[in-house]
Amino acid sequence: MERTFLMVKPDAVRRGLIGSIIARFEAKGFKMIAGKLMIISDELVKKHYFEHEGRPYYNDLTTFMTSGPVFAMVWEGNDIIKLSRFMMGSTDPEKATPGTIRGDYATRMNRNVIHGSDSAENAEREIRLFFEEEEFVSNK
Ligand code: PPS
Repeated sequence: MERTFLMVKPDAVRRGLIGSIIARFEAKGFKMIAGKLMIISDELVKKHYFEHEGRPYYNDLTTFMTSGPVFAMVWEGNDIIKLSRFMMGSTDPEKATPGTIRGDYATRMNRNVIHGSDSAENAEREIRLFFEEEEFVSNK
């Protein structure tokens, strides 16, 4: 069983999309084992996106991600890292296929609705950044 970190971004929280996004992962058969509404601090956003520091989009991305509440989650399921990224669609909503989350709900790169870990290593790192072990709930 694999775990991943998924986060509904501030644009989607503001638009009332948390429930619709969660429903898609539930319908797929994945299980949420932790979730919380929170505002990301400057310190946490820097740690989360450390790999992207210095990129042209870095300031826009970190400003956007701290502009309002996010809904941070840990999910479990078979092959969930790869499959959840298929469900999210291309990072750039202009390239995301209809039927994917970004394809259905987003039009702009800097308002792309959801973040999902891209590897097992990043999933573990991101989960540890956002959650303590005691926040996980078994959801069989
Ligand atoms: S890379 O080089 O493949 O790692 O980059 P990529 O995966 O495409 O994007 C990394 C994260 O940066 C966000 N991003 C942007 N945000 C705002 N504006 C622009 N132009 C932009 N380009 C990339 C992108 O959404 C990724 O963040 P997450 O949170 O993973 O979606």
